[in-house]
Amino acid sequence: MTEEEAKAWETAATELRKEGLPAEMAERFLPYYYIPQEMQVRWHRMTEDAQLHGVRHFGNGGSRGSGKTTATFAQVSLYDCQKWPGINCLYIRLVKKSSGNSFQQMTTAILGDYEGASVSQEGIRFPNGSTIAIAGVRDPKDVDKYVGLNYELMVVEEANQIDEERLIKLQGSLRTGRLDGYVPRCYMNFNPGGPGMKYLKKTFIQPWKEKRETNTRFIFSRYQDNKFLDAGYVDYLNNLDGMLGKLWRDGDFDISQGMAFDNFRPDVYVYDDWDIGDNWIRIRGIDDGYSKPYCCLWLAKDPVTGRIVVYDEDYGEGYTNGEQAERIKAMTPRNHRISITYADPAMWQKSHHVDSDAKAGKDIYAAHGIYLTKGDNDRKNGLAKIREMMRPLPDGLPGLIFLSRCKNLIWQFENLPMSASKPEDVDTNFEDHAYDALRYGTTSEAGPKPVRNGERRNRERHPFYALGW
Ligand SMILES: Nc1ncnc2c1ncn2[C@@H]1O[C@H](COP(=O)(O)OP(=O)(O)OP(=O)(O)O)[C@@H](O)[C@H]1O
Ligand SMILES: [Mg+2]
Repeated sequence: MTEEEAKAWETAATELRKEGLPAEMAERFLPYYYIPQEMQVRWHRMTEDAQLHGVRHFGNGGSRGSGKTTATFAQVSLYDCQKWPGINCLYIRLVKKSSGNSFQQMTTAILGDYEGASVSQEGIRFPNGSTIAIAGVRDPKDVDKYVGLNYELMVVEEANQIDEERLIKLQGSLRTGRLDGYVPRCYMNFNPGGPGMKYLKKTFIQPWKEKRETNTRFIFSRYQDNKFLDAGYVDYLNNLDGMLGKLWRDGDFDISQGMAFDNFRPDVYVYDDWDIGDNWIRIRGIDDGYSKPYCCLWLAKDPVTGRIVVYDEDYGEGYTNGEQAERIKAMTPRNHRISITYADPAMWQKSHHVDSDAKAGKDIYAAHGIYLTKGDNDRKNGLAKIREMMRPLPDGLPGLIFLSRCKNLIWQFENLPMSASKPEDVDTNFEDHAYDALRYGTTSEAGPKPVRNGERRNRERHPFYALGW
């Protein structure tokens, strides 16, 4: 360390001590150039309640980009793993295509100089025997692999993306046989929205709001807490409107009533495979997009039960109409006879795609051999139809099934909020292109039958009414 560095180090350490960071933490953080910011200092200090008061559950939630992951990773790797030699930790994070390798960049930034630490994608091992298993899960289902194993410390990133049952099961794996008084603990980071939000609100936020926290601790954090957030991302957050702005910028947890598919659960609606018969009717649904994602879904309808299985998905941005059509052809096996391809009615207008020559999207598709039929764009009715299809059929299984490869569709069903201004539609500011493709794809479904008042009265009078006739 040069003299200048030593001086800077001293100043930072004094500052942090003033803010209340325990000296032992400062000593372990600073040599690795991790300097926690104010919210992070509060969070690090809070984790001391594990040893002081036996607290096992720590939550950090709010808007995106507040510095939650950075603080948690530093806490676990530089502090907990060093203070408790031989500790075994599990670090769960959902990997989406958008997350890139920023996590790896962070681990190298923080642990790059750590002598004797071996860092790989699977995990980290320290010379004192402490280990961090890094579980990059693609799907909340994948966390089941870790249920029933023993971990002394657990981190769940984006915990709101994991459903309540799994979150509870996971915490059953938090155990220790250590005799040195170490208290096993779990750190959960989350934003509002998603299937886990209700549980996280109940567990962390309500006790915190009502000032009656006993075995949990919570910190509400916002992007303004992080002065290192890049300006472009701050702009992005500031420009989000509608529900997505409420969720990601404001970290507003009071929106639970607003989820479009509140009862959507992957274990009920998502299957890895489904037997699709030769006589099933195959349909495609397309939502157009260039600077925003386009989506094509492949649907198959069981002619006997009427069940619809969404069995494939193509999703992405930056594809011209011609490229979309080619992708769709390549993904449709030759022996699958598609009865009809419903598409976004906007594709009947002149297209603004780069390859369009001011032609309509449907004409470009036609030139590539895909003939489109206008999808039904009645948004309100479309939502009612999809909810109707999700109900169980007489065999007890839902009338609408998704195969697990339809990742974007599943994510949207877990997260799509209702519109704040139009009570019978979803929030179109949210990424909803797979949902839209499904609406178009189900154009020919009849949806709920309207029941006239008189008819209902007569039905209710019928002696077999109570039996469900
Ligand atoms: N103390 C710090 N020093 C330097 N950079 C930091 C610090 N804290 C956070 N950052 C930077 O700020 C950015 C956002 O931080 P981070 O990913 O930890 O936020 P987050 O709350 O986990 O976000 P999200 O809600 O999107 O998961 C990262 O690029 C990170 O490197
Ligand atoms: Mg994060």
